[in-house]
Amino acid sequence: MAQLGGAKVVVVGGASGVGFAVAAAARAAGAEVVIGSSQPARIAAAAARLGAGAQGRVVDVRDEASVAAFFDATGGFDHLVFTAGDWGQMRGPTRDLDVEASKARMEVRFWGAARVAKHALRQIAAEGSITLTSGMLAHRPMPGAPLTTASAQSTEGLAIGLARDLAPIRVNAVCLGLILSEQVQGLGESAIKAFTGNLPLPRAGTVEEAAEAYLYLMRATYVTGQVVRVDGGGSLV
Ligand SMILES: NC(=O)c1ccc[n+]([C@@H]2O[C@H](COP(=O)([O-])OP(=O)(O)OC[C@H]3O[C@@H](n4cnc5c(N)ncnc54)[C@H](OP(=O)(O)O)[C@@H]3O)[C@@H](O)[C@H]2O)c1
Repeated sequence: MAQLGGAKVVVVGGASGVGFAVAAAARAAGAEVVIGSSQPARIAAAAARLGAGAQGRVVDVRDEASVAAFFDATGGFDHLVFTAGDWGQMRGPTRDLDVEASKARMEVRFWGAARVAKHALRQIAAEGSITLTSGMLAHRPMPGAPLTTASAQSTEGLAIGLARDLAPIRVNAVCLGLILSEQVQGLGESAIKAFTGNLPLPRAGTVEEAAEAYLYLMRATYVTGQVVRVDGGGSLV
């Protein structure tokens, strides 16, 4: 396994939640980190919490020019993690589907990942890695949410497609079950229990447990085109 000491790790979506935990774990492993997200005050506060060896930079992954400028300013680096995501509904009866609103819901999580991969290529090391983020609904569809499943699967498809296209740069994805980011904590205890009570590991995951998978994929120099599930065994039930 490659060590992260002296490596430079970029986390797009690093202002909070899973991305912030990845940045903190990478710092603890000796990497220099650059975190990016769209709200200047949030990214500055997150970089200050990470302390020395961390920089925050604004990027809106819905805007290709912003993504290009972010990577121009970042310069050369080793590993890219993409955890950016907005939170809105892609749910409801299919007969009432709002196609345009649903397309817009893919701007950050899917098209954002594609824009970031494109512009990262100018700066990423030849032996570097890219890790994208999907969710358990990719594999455990729910009534009323077919587009959420399609969106999460498209991110996994992007990861395996990029693994072939960009080799020897390694590209993988982490598929998250319910992880206790600030956003998820806002759901409240009873909703969290309802989602997780029947899992083999009957609780939500912590952001630190999720971060472990991203660090593994940065270090695992013979692993590409894989989706690592961090879901408490949710895909088994
Ligand atoms: N937590 C879970 O249970 C779970 C489960 C399945 C999948 N996921 C996925 O995993 C990812 C991380 O989840 P999380 O819970 O850690 O979420 P989070 O705390 O909301 O983190 C998402 C990050 O994305 C950034 N972001 C949002 N819009 C952006 C944009 N247009 N450009 C750049 N950055 C943007 C946000 O910062 P700004 O507001 O500053 O932009 C934020 O730091 C998300 O994609 C989520 O869908 C999470």
